[in-house]
Amino acid sequence: MSNLRVLIVGASIAGPTAAYWFAKAGAKVTVVERFPHIRPNGQNVDIRTVGVTVMRRTPGMEAAVRAKVMPYEGISFVGSNGRPFGIIRATGNPDQQSLVSEYEILRGDLSQILFDMTKDNENISYVFGEQVASMQQHEQEDGPVTVEFANGFPASEFDLVVACDGATSRTRALGLGCGVRDHIKSINCWVAYFSTQQDILDGSKLGQSYSAPGGRWIAAGSNPAGGSRVTLMGLYPRDNLDITRSFRSAMAQGDVAFKQHIAQHFKGAGWKCDEAIEGMMGSPDFYASEIAQVKPPSLCKGRFVLVGDAGYAAGPTGGGTSLAIAGAYVLAGEISKHKGDLAAGLQGYEERMRPIIDDLQKIPFLVPTVLAPQTTWGLWVRNSIIWFICWTRVMQFSQRFFANSYGSGDKYRLPEYSWDK
Ligand SMILES: Cc1cc2nc3c(=O)[nH]c(=O)nc-3n(C[C@H](O)[C@H](O)[C@H](O)COP(=O)(O)OP(=O)(O)OC[C@H]3O[C@@H](n4cnc5c(N)ncnc54)[C@H](O)[C@@H]3O)c2cc1C
Ligand SMILES: *[C@@H]1O[C@H](CO)[C@@H](O)[C@H](O)[C@H]1NC(C)=O
Repeated sequence: MSNLRVLIVGASIAGPTAAYWFAKAGAKVTVVERFPHIRPNGQNVDIRTVGVTVMRRTPGMEAAVRAKVMPYEGISFVGSNGRPFGIIRATGNPDQQSLVSEYEILRGDLSQILFDMTKDNENISYVFGEQVASMQQHEQEDGPVTVEFANGFPASEFDLVVACDGATSRTRALGLGCGVRDHIKSINCWVAYFSTQQDILDGSKLGQSYSAPGGRWIAAGSNPAGGSRVTLMGLYPRDNLDITRSFRSAMAQGDVAFKQHIAQHFKGAGWKCDEAIEGMMGSPDFYASEIAQVKPPSLCKGRFVLVGDAGYAAGPTGGGTSLAIAGAYVLAGEISKHKGDLAAGLQGYEERMRPIIDDLQKIPFLVPTVLAPQTTWGLWVRNSIIWFICWTRVMQFSQRFFANSYGSGDKYRLPEYSWDK
């Protein structure tokens, strides 16, 4: 694909991974990111299954990730008095992951690793503080796409535009000609991540998780940099549109408004909720997002294609990062394989990814049960993900169940591509 001009929009996980593999295949890559720099925040994400497969095919990546994985021994579930009633530990074997992955890494660190692997490549250029304003696709002639930018980067032609700008992708709306919220399947859930100065776990390395009625969950883990890292989640009945509207409108007003919304929701919920809220107010790295799945009818249109959360956010299953990494690899690989026939490459991408997406978007059957928020089920929440419910008795069973449903990436047989230039 010598000199194929590829525009990638978004520099988090999918974007830099796609840049890496496209450049390997000989393309000229431009990555535009809306933020002025790689975004540092976020909590832990998991690399699992096909994500592990691709990571191991990326020279140097596994070592870089291992150097940054969270010192994470597992997680315990506590009651309002702080007494644990169940503990899940990492398996110690990356091919046999339990709920606690062996490759658990801060999203910002993973993003930085991927950026560092690509930033000095002469065929990749990053443009920060920029986004797409318009795209003109010359469909009839199957010609290139003319892209105009919002903040001064000169309008240019690209052979392929790859949207990697996350679940609420604006580029998807432009490229597919739809609304920003079209194809987003809400589950009436938000999640917030932040670090606190205070160590609310008093030195424990084992993460702790607590749930309160009203669909309120909190998980805290130790922060290597000191203090704690906290995840808060609000999960509401799907039919309560008032609540949906209220959290979306608070979210739309920005972090300060949303923090207030959260504080109100969690005040007095028990365990360490009040301490966590206090820490959240002064936190330097607050990040909140709605948890949703993205399910467009097709991943491409002409020379426009979706990768990562923009195309198949997995929401509460926790498969999103692995899908993003695998999707970026398969897209570049299929286009490289079908040299000179972009349409065939895009079709190959969609066909290869479809079964993997379907699998990793499957919400485990236990999860919908916990969405009924007034129950007294024990819950476990992490990674912006509801994994799981259990009575203490079925903990073992559940752990096996979830471990199996992830399993090893080998079962998908991701193709090896030759990457000829
Ligand atoms: C700041 C942040 C924190 C996160 N924290 C967690 C977490 O703690 N746990 C977890 O499981 N998942 C988290 N996620 C989501 C997780 O990273 C993704 O689900 C997954 O890794 C797939 O990544 P992605 O690259 O497809 O999309 P994303 O990670 O969502 O990245 C999208 C990127 O595109 C950029 N962008 C957005 N709109 C535009 C635009 N119009 N033009 C140009 N660029 C744009 C964004 O700034 C971002 O860098 C976080 C995402 C972000 C952005
Ligand atoms: C950059 O692209 C040119 C032309 O395709 C190629 O010859 C060169 O090897 C590439 N550089 C890198 C670092 O891949």
